[in-house]
Amino acid sequence: MKLGRIAVTGIAAAVLAASAVSTALASASPRQGDTLRGLGARIGLRVGTAVNMDVLGSTGVDAPYTAITGSEFSTVTPENVMKWQLVEPTQGKYDWAAADKLVAFAEQHGQRVRGHTLVWHNQLPNWLTGGTFTNDQLRDLLHKHITDEVTHFRGKIWQWDVLNEAFNDDGTLRDTIWLDALGPGYIADVFRWAHAADPKALLFYNDYNIEGLGPKSDAVYAMVQQLQAEGVPIDGVGIQGHLDTQYPLPNNMTANVARFDALGLDTAFTEVDVRTFVPVTTQEVLAQSEDYTAMLQACLAARGCISFTVWGFTDKYSWVPGFFTGEGAACIYDENYQKKPEYDAVAQTLALAGGAPIRHRG
Ligand code: XIL
Repeated sequence: MKLGRIAVTGIAAAVLAASAVSTALASASPRQGDTLRGLGARIGLRVGTAVNMDVLGSTGVDAPYTAITGSEFSTVTPENVMKWQLVEPTQGKYDWAAADKLVAFAEQHGQRVRGHTLVWHNQLPNWLTGGTFTNDQLRDLLHKHITDEVTHFRGKIWQWDVLNEAFNDDGTLRDTIWLDALGPGYIADVFRWAHAADPKALLFYNDYNIEGLGPKSDAVYAMVQQLQAEGVPIDGVGIQGHLDTQYPLPNNMTANVARFDALGLDTAFTEVDVRTFVPVTTQEVLAQSEDYTAMLQACLAARGCISFTVWGFTDKYSWVPGFFTGEGAACIYDENYQKKPEYDAVAQTLALAGGAPIRHRG
C-alpha cells in the first residue's frame, strides 16, 4: 500500500493557518481581487501556466479556461504545440498555427512565452523515429529543426527549453536518439544552434527530479558548469517540479536552487504540479499545499529564479490521470474552476514574500 506523508507540519500548514488568522497578517495576505500574476509582479516573479491549445480560445469554447489563463498568469508555456511532433507532422511541412495563436494570446495579455521544447526524446514525429537516417542526416535534421523553429519565433520567446530530460535519475546521460547519433557533444551544439537563431532568448536546460540535491541534479550542475567553462550559451536551468505526495519532499530544494543561482544562471520552476492518489484526503491536500509552498519558497530564495509555472492550472485538463494510474488532483484549481487550498498556499506565499529583492531579470 502506498502511504502518503503521515505528518504534515511545516510551511503549508503554517500558511494555511496564517490565511485563517487574517488580522495578524492582514498586510501580507492576498486581498480579494489579487491574482497570482499581480502578487508575483510585486516581487519581480512571473507566475505561469502550461496551456492546452485544444481548449484555449474560440475553437475550444471553454470560457473560464481562457479567462483564467489570461488573468491569473504572466507567462505561458505551450503544453504540447511547440513540440517537434506537432510543428512538423510531415517532413518539411511546418504547422505553426496553434503555437502562433498562443504567442498572439500572450501578446494580447501582456504575458511572456516559455518555448517548450526543442530537443527531447519524446513526442518526435513518426517520420523521424520511423525513418532510416544516417547519423550525419540526424545531425542535420536536428540542426534544421532548431534553426527553423527558433527563427520562426525569434523575438517572441522569453525562455526556450532548448534541451529537455537528457539525464537518467542516476545522473548518467539518457540513451536517446540524439546521444546515439551525435554523441555527448550534442548538448553544447544544440545550445549554440539555438543561440545563433535568436541571440536574445534565454536558453534553458529543463528536467524533472532535479528539484532537490541528489545524483541527477549533481549531474546537471556539473554539466552546466562545463558548458559555462566552454563558453556555451546557456542561461538557465528549468526545474520541472512534478511532485507526488507519496514521496518525501525533495532533499533541500533551497540549497539546490541556490547553487545554480551562484553560477550566475537563471532558474525557473517550469512544470509544477503535485499529484496524489484520488479521491484525495484532507491530509493529502495539506501535503500538496506544502509541496507547492516549498517549491515556491525555494524559487523565492534565489535571486535568479525568474518564473514559477504550473503544468496546467485546472484538474479538468491535467496530464496526471492519463500518465499516473490512480493519481490526480494535482493542480491549483479543481475541475470546476474553483480555487483549491493549493492556490491559496501559492498566493499566500507570494504575498508573504512582499519584501523580497527584485529579481535581476524580469
Ligand atoms: C506532457 C503533456 O502534458 C501531455 O499532454 C503530453 O501527452 C505528454 O507530455 N515533462 C515535460 C512535458 O517536459 O512536456 C510533459 O508534458 C510532461 C513531462
